[in-house]
This record gives sequence, structure tokens and C-alpha cells, in this order.
Amino acid sequence: MLKFDFRNMLGENVESGNYADEIVSMEVDFIKAMEELKKDNPGFISLLDNFEFVEEIEKIAEEFKWCENFVVLGIGGSALGNTAIQQSLRPLNWNFLDEDKRKECPRIFIWDNVDPEYILSNLEILDLSKTVFNVISKSGSTAEAMSNYLIVRGILEFWNLDVRKHLVFTTDPEKGVLNKIAAKDGISKLVIPPSVGGRFSVLTPVGLLSAMMAGIDVKKILNGAKESRDKMLNSRLWENNAGLIAVHHRLQYRKGRTISVMFAYSNALYSWADWYRQLWAESLGKQKDKNGTDVFLGPTPIKAIGPTDQHSQVQLYSEGKNDKVITFLKVENFRNTVRIPQIHGDIEELSYLGNRTLNELINFEQEGTAYALKKHDKPNLTVIFPTIDENNIGEFIFTYELATALFGYMENIDPFDQPGVEDGKIATYALMGRKGYEDLSEEIKKG
Ligand code: PA5
Repeated sequence: MLKFDFRNMLGENVESGNYADEIVSMEVDFIKAMEELKKDNPGFISLLDNFEFVEEIEKIAEEFKWCENFVVLGIGGSALGNTAIQQSLRPLNWNFLDEDKRKECPRIFIWDNVDPEYILSNLEILDLSKTVFNVISKSGSTAEAMSNYLIVRGILEFWNLDVRKHLVFTTDPEKGVLNKIAAKDGISKLVIPPSVGGRFSVLTPVGLLSAMMAGIDVKKILNGAKESRDKMLNSRLWENNAGLIAVHHRLQYRKGRTISVMFAYSNALYSWADWYRQLWAESLGKQKDKNGTDVFLGPTPIKAIGPTDQHSQVQLYSEGKNDKVITFLKVENFRNTVRIPQIHGDIEELSYLGNRTLNELINFEQEGTAYALKKHDKPNLTVIFPTIDENNIGEFIFTYELATALFGYMENIDPFDQPGVEDGKIATYALMGRKGYEDLSEEIKKG
């Protein structure tokens, strides 16, 4: 189970932090938000009711287990969770390991961009006859995912490779072109429940098929999320980690600390900071509240990795403008230990490192940074992973999804829509010459 250390968020330890009376005064908002959320029962909560859908994923994973490369084509919520699961629950050098070490599981690639150099460099290293492409798009209309699908399909057809053997779609149960293509061409398909929004969909086939292909125990991730859900939907604020994350951040936001940095002291966890950036930004960055009133809500999420960014960002975080809340991700027990040899015992500048471990070094650096921030009156909290395993990752996912939704409900905005993203998507259709968008194209070109 994860541990949450909120001590450096409290006014009694850090002057700019939150005081008990302030937290108590937000308890009513928290209770109301939780009640509304339970009543609405959004997809990210209800999908944990039963895990029957995992059987469908297992069937598809079995069908495609012959492949040597498994490539996800998706973007945003259809890619970030996949990357984070792979990075945290598989060795970081997974794609470089030989087949034996990968236990015959495929290499996993996630193409979440349309940079031509990036796509070509990936295509150049893959033997397509040994590759399966998982096209993930809930809407089935996102230009980036669809372009990459068309490119891949073009090459498969050029080499006379059977698209049914090399493609699998993950999409809405009914809507979107991927459904039509799957039905027409007999391509296998997994569904994303309509009630689960893109950035909340990592625990659906979106994130779980690639996880399963890499041999990750997805039921353990789901169990971790479900245990966390059952506990947090029914606990009071002071025992509710998601509630406390939401309330602490909301109080800080109101005091002008509008930036939220997720600072991972672990390469394996760093991609979760990326996932969090999207979750927090798209869910909480809203112009209007539910009544249509302009609110321009906008806590800005930032990602950082330690200790690397101590030599890049920490000067700003410690001494710069007091406008940030820092969340450290810390690992108590890494899955490996690396000892530093004692080589220059007579050189003071190096001897203190000898016979210690990188494990100690990275964690002392995190503690040191938390202390420095506290000293400079900068509120911070730490999420502690006793180990990085499926259960803890499941708990982390659900905790942050719930915290995000609670923050949104407390602010009376809709955390599940993304009108700003849709605007950009539509402008792309217009500029790329999609039929029906001619007027918009003209308008944009006029500038
Ligand atoms: O959270 C969201 O809804 C978005 O970030 C989407 O995940 C992203 O735009 C991709 O959409 P789609 O899965 O429809 O291709």
C-alpha cells in the first residue's frame, strides 16, 4: 500500500501550508463533491465493479501472442497510461532484452506523435511481418492516431500482409470509423466503455492490452485500484488520500500556488508524472463552470525527475516565486540495489560515496530536497511507494483519478469534458482539408 506524507503541506510545519481550520472548512465541499460523484458514478469508478472485461483482453492477447513487436498507435489518454504502465512495471530496458529475458513477450512501442522523423525511425527498425499494431482511439477520428493507422495499413497492404493478423483496434463500442472498418475487414476489436473518458481510461483495454502483451498481471493492477476505490469512496477526509490531495491543492490554488509539480525520484515512475500532467490539465483547465459562468480554472501541472532536475529546476522551486506545490514520488525499496565501490578511500570528496548504494543516494537526495523546500517555505508532499508493483500502481492510478475528479466537483466544473482539445482537433480537420470544415479553414487562414 502507498503511504502519503502530507506533513510539509501543513501550516504548522511550513508557514505557507494549509492550517487545520482551513482544511476543516473545506470538509463540507469535499463531502458534497464525494456524494455527487458517487451519484454520477462515472466510468472510471464503475469499471472496477467487476473484471469480466479482462477475459476479452485475454482472448485478444492470446490471439496476438505470436508477435515480436507490439505497437500502440494512440495519443493523449490513448497512449500516456500505456507508457506509464510499461515503464513502471517492466524493466526499463525491456525492448533491448533478448526474447528469453522477455519471457517470449513482444517488445512494446507506443507511437504517440506524428513527427515524420520519429515515425520513420521507428518503422525502420521493425520487421512488419512480426509486428502487431494496436490502433487506440475512442472517437476513431483523432488525426494523429488515424494518420499513423493509415501509414501502417498502407505498408501492410504494400507487402501483402494480412491486416487481420497485424491490426487490432481499441475503440468505442459503436461510434467511429474504426468500428466500420473492423466490421468490414474482420479486424479484432476491444471496446472502451463510453462512460470512461480518454484520460481516465488506463484501466480499460486502452492500457491493459499492451500491459498484458508484456506479461504484466493486469488483475493485480485492477485489484489495487479497486481496494483503493472501496476504501476512499467511503472514508472521511482525514483518512482519504484522494480527498486530502484535492483539498490541499485547492487551498493552495486559492492562495496563489497555481502550479503543481510532480517530481518523481524514480525513472520507472517518471511517466506517471506525464500521465498526471494530462489528467490534471485536461480535467481541471476549464473556462466555464457547470452553470456556464466564466471561471478560468487552471492549476498547471509540471513534471520533473530527481535527482536530475535538482540540477535544473530546484533553484527555481526553492528560491523562486512561491507559486508551486511539489509532489514527490519516492520508492522505499527499489527492485535492484547498486553498490558504489570504495575506490579512492583517501580522497575525502569521493570516499563518503564509497560502500554506499545508489538506492541510499537517490532517497537522501529526495529527503534533502524536501527539507530544502520546507526551509524555503515551499509546501510539498510525498507519495511513497514501498515497492513499485502492480498493486501500488493500481492504487496510485485510482487515487489520482479520484483526486482530480473531486477537485473538479468542488469547483463545480466538469472534469470529464475537454472542449479546448476538441477546438484544436476541429481546426486540424479544417486545415487538413476535411470535407465540411471549409468555412473554418478560411477563417483560420485569414488569421
Ligand atoms: O482525455 C481525452 O479525452 C483526450 O486526451 C483523448 O484521449 C485524446 O484526444 C485521444 O482521443 P481518441 O482516443 O478519441 O483518439
